[in-house]
Amino acid sequence: MLKIKNLSFAYGSIQTLNSVDMEMETGKVTCILGRNGVGKTTLLKNIMGILKPSSKSVIQIDDVELTTMAPHLRAKMGLGYVPQGRQIFPRITVEENLKVALQARRDRSRVIPDFVYDLFPVLREMGGRMGGDLSGGQQQQLAIARALCGDPEILVLDEPTEGIQPNIIQQIGEILRQLVEERGMTVVLVEQYLDFVKEFGHNFYVLNRGRVVAEGETSELSDDIISQHLSV
Ligand SMILES: Nc1ncnc2c1ncn2[C@@H]1O[C@H](COP(=O)(O)OP(=O)(O)OP(=O)(O)O)[C@@H](O)[C@H]1O
Ligand SMILES: [Mg+2]
Repeated sequence: MLKIKNLSFAYGSIQTLNSVDMEMETGKVTCILGRNGVGKTTLLKNIMGILKPSSKSVIQIDDVELTTMAPHLRAKMGLGYVPQGRQIFPRITVEENLKVALQARRDRSRVIPDFVYDLFPVLREMGGRMGGDLSGGQQQQLAIARALCGDPEILVLDEPTEGIQPNIIQQIGEILRQLVEERGMTVVLVEQYLDFVKEFGHNFYVLNRGRVVAEGETSELSDDIISQHLSV
């Protein structure tokens, strides 16, 4: 289980996260919801070690504390990251994009796992193309595949449906479901598309101005919570 306790973060003097407490259960999809600018990406960057939280914040996987651990060591602890806006490498090939991620693996394998290509056959076909020449939907698939090449136990995704057409969104959801059900993966999903959250998510937390204002199972995501904290 990934646990966050009392996590606070400020960009300079601007307090962005305030005493956030969350538990992401193993083998479940935990969704982090909230309007634009409430601190969702900032939270994920703290989990990944890209940003450093305030003292007294705690991030741990089971009983191992990661709060001050460098990002590459967190990858070795089993965290895989799909950043907002994909951030694939545009000027190297699809295959090279995937190979870069193999360095995070604990087993030191340098071979792209078959299951990654089985989940995303389009990437096998396009292995020799430049990352930047893929469509937006294909780049999102590449970003997820790249994270999977690091052999994560916990997959952290920042708005994977943003700007993606419905059939690819559905495919991504089915892949997340498969990873959870067949591989016991833990998924942390920042998402604003509520139908996707209801279909593929198990638990949710809602952030508003850097604080957790609601939490529960996705089946309990009420109209009241939506109108108060999520609708624009
Ligand atoms: N590098 C930065 N320096 C200063 N402020 C920042 C920085 N990055 C983000 N912020 C601010 O912190 C707040 C939270 O940003 P964050 O990107 O975490 O929001 P978000 O919930 O992910 O939003 P979105 O839904 O638009 O992706 C925003 O007010 C944003 O302007
Ligand atoms: Mg964001």
